[in-house]
Amino acid sequence: MSYNLLKGKRGIIFGALDENSIAWKTAERVHEEGGSFVLTNAPIAMRMGQINELAKKTGSQIIPADATSEEDLALLVEKATEILGGKLDFVLHSIGMSVNVRKGRPYTDEKYDFTVKGWDVSALSFHKVMQALYKAGAMNEWGSIVALTYMAAQRTFPDYNDMADNKAYLESVARSFGYFFGKEKNVRVNTISQSPTPTTAGQGVKGFDGFINYAEKMSPLGNATAQDCAGYTITLFSDLTKKVTMQNLFHDGGFSNTGVSQEVIEYFNK
Ligand SMILES: NC(=O)c1ccc[n+]([C@@H]2O[C@H](COP(=O)([O-])OP(=O)(O)OC[C@H]3O[C@@H](n4cnc5c(N)ncnc54)[C@H](O)[C@@H]3O)[C@@H](O)[C@H]2O)c1
Repeated sequence: MSYNLLKGKRGIIFGALDENSIAWKTAERVHEEGGSFVLTNAPIAMRMGQINELAKKTGSQIIPADATSEEDLALLVEKATEILGGKLDFVLHSIGMSVNVRKGRPYTDEKYDFTVKGWDVSALSFHKVMQALYKAGAMNEWGSIVALTYMAAQRTFPDYNDMADNKAYLESVARSFGYFFGKEKNVRVNTISQSPTPTTAGQGVKGFDGFINYAEKMSPLGNATAQDCAGYTITLFSDLTKKVTMQNLFHDGGFSNTGVSQEVIEYFNK
């Protein structure tokens, strides 16, 4: 169902790799709500992903950009405002990757070159994106910037590895940049802390199946899906949440505030 919440709004969506991606579902939802946008992803992901299909479906253009490259980001912001015909109202940062996780290095045996690369892609890139937008004066007043995160920033999940530290940094950047963006441009910045979701990035985490099933049993409302996350993101891009900023917002069916569920107790009472 569409509410026309984003009618006339323009933005950039980072991170749609395939139809499971949270960014993919969000792009579809933004389109349904009347928003227009430019899609972007790392040049390498363009070759692997199916982003052309999404662009066609949503009538959008694609501009490749490596989110760790200041040069790519400056160009992206310039081109996006040109293509869309004005300043931006929303930006979604839906990017994450840990080289240590990919290469099977445990947290206690990190290769620091990998750590730095993963931090740059997953966390510092959010600062770089916002700095590019800020310097170009590319955001409209009362615009909204959202990045995706996970609760491992607050509580330890051993196999989440160095991504936990990256997410903690990302959430801090949202608060710090949110201050300046709010004060000077009336733009809000938030992170959404999403349930485990079966996507390429999610399934890269060791033991993901156990992880997602456990969260399902622990959450009174069950896990939030990528589609649910798209819906929540739309509310944050809309004018209905103008004074929400510098927040880390849990979107997890209640998982983060549940000590234990009846199902989990029963499992251990067997
Ligand atoms: N899947 C989960 O369980 C889960 C839970 C909470 C939060 N998140 C977060 O949601 C976000 C989106 O992930 P997803 O689950 O949709 O997986 P995904 O694999 O579909 O998306 C990750 C995206 O990051 C992009 N990316 C990687 N390196 C990049 C770079 N250098 N420049 C630009 N883009 C780059 C990839 O191409 C991909 O499109 C991530 O921040 C992830 O950490 C995921």
